[in-house]
Amino acid sequence: MGKFQKKFNEAETVFNFEDVILLPGLSKVEPKEIDLRTKFSKNIPINIPLVSSPMDTVTEAEMAIALARHGGIGVIHRNCSNEEELEMVKAVKRSESFIIREVVTISKEAKVGEAAEIMRKHKISGLPVVENNRLVGIITGRDVRFTDPSVTVSEAMTKDIVVAKPGVTPEEAVELMKKHKVEKLPVVDKEGKLVGLITYRDVALRGEYKDATRDGEGRLRVAAAVSPFDLERAKLLSKYADALVIDVAHFHNENVIEATKKLVKEAGVDVVIGNLGTKEGVLDSVSRIDGVAGLRVGIGSGSVCITTEVTRTGAPTLFAVSQAANALEEIDAEMPIIADGGVRNPGDIALAVAFGASCAMLGYVFAGCKESPSPMTIINDRYFKLHRGMGSQSARQKRMAVDRYAVLSKEIPEGTEVWIPYKGEVASIINEFASGMKAAMGYAGASNITELQRKRKFAKIISKKEKVGISINQLK
Ligand code: XMP
Repeated sequence: MGKFQKKFNEAETVFNFEDVILLPGLSKVEPKEIDLRTKFSKNIPINIPLVSSPMDTVTEAEMAIALARHGGIGVIHRNCSNEEELEMVKAVKRSESFIIREVVTISKEAKVGEAAEIMRKHKISGLPVVENNRLVGIITGRDVRFTDPSVTVSEAMTKDIVVAKPGVTPEEAVELMKKHKVEKLPVVDKEGKLVGLITYRDVALRGEYKDATRDGEGRLRVAAAVSPFDLERAKLLSKYADALVIDVAHFHNENVIEATKKLVKEAGVDVVIGNLGTKEGVLDSVSRIDGVAGLRVGIGSGSVCITTEVTRTGAPTLFAVSQAANALEEIDAEMPIIADGGVRNPGDIALAVAFGASCAMLGYVFAGCKESPSPMTIINDRYFKLHRGMGSQSARQKRMAVDRYAVLSKEIPEGTEVWIPYKGEVASIINEFASGMKAAMGYAGASNITELQRKRKFAKIISKKEKVGISINQLK
């Protein structure tokens, strides 16, 4: 046998979601009892295994807020300036903080007219009054509405204030507010200094979204994409974001690994690396970078990827998950694996998880939702939203995308643009995916993700089911 023939015979078999099936197993649980809790990265637990892609037609603040409220997490894209990305991250953190830390205040010498103006500008309904950082009163919309604007704040404010201690829990805060019929609760330390503010709206929202992904202070969690070479952006974002995601098409690269080593040291938050596709890639990266908090895997399987067509290289997502899981097992390391690219159905995620992933990253599925930042159009009386690869011509025209998919001498686009059917609010898609994953796990006889990974049984598909007829949806 010639050398080439031998190499060919020994080649790995790659596979993806459509090539494998999860086999049914003895089940002792009903789908609704199934627990989907998992991890996004080492220190970030999530309640459903759903993450949104850092793409400029998928994840900006609105999508990240919606996903975190329903138990997943969004990764803000980086196809924008440092300031724009930071502002999106801050918007998520601000959206539902349990204790507001950057409180807008006023001094007691100021005039009521000024207080009214500040409230209007910041769209808030009350201001704590402070003197040398110490809380001396509170002035609300009601106080200013019925007072002459030239009167000083000290004359119009309420002096007898109900306050909370820094360690207050959301439940205690609600109880205090109900008891004293107040909607704002300043948080004051031992010296009487104002250290935060709790509003009824924010604590009430916590009840509405019980499964939300929150940090220790009750704020929604969010991750942000960065280039490994942009240390300045990484440092800026890590002050606010819960995690950074290194966002390069091919992580297994000397320069990328070296740059990431430095970035992880400086970041101070979880750093997820990717994209990786092979066992060697994972081993090289994890052994050389101290403190990696997660792996984003899959190369070329994304809906708008043309990497594999253009370059004939890639690592299909399910194959990449199994490679990463094998690598971690070999070095006895544990960290979340994020399956990225090509997910269309809940069963794809169940498969990825069964192969060793902790969660999946979705672009296409979320791009079609109301909360995605992409434009909408009407074609033949039907609504469509735009989805584009971050390596597409138009995305690359925006500065940061060039970092991710640049081919230094000749630049070839590695992504396309498509119009996809509008799917409505992301909450209903999340529900659909959660139910579908639970159904899959029910068939496999697993009551949670760890059990699915322990009990998993697969089969290879060699005969594909042929579709018959035209679906009713197509006729509509
Ligand atoms: P889906 O299938 O969910 O995949 O839309 C999302 C993932 O696709 C990757 N991505 C790209 N890959 N060229 C590529 O080869 C591109 O232009 C491109 N844009 C995004 C990315 O990993 C994303 O999470």
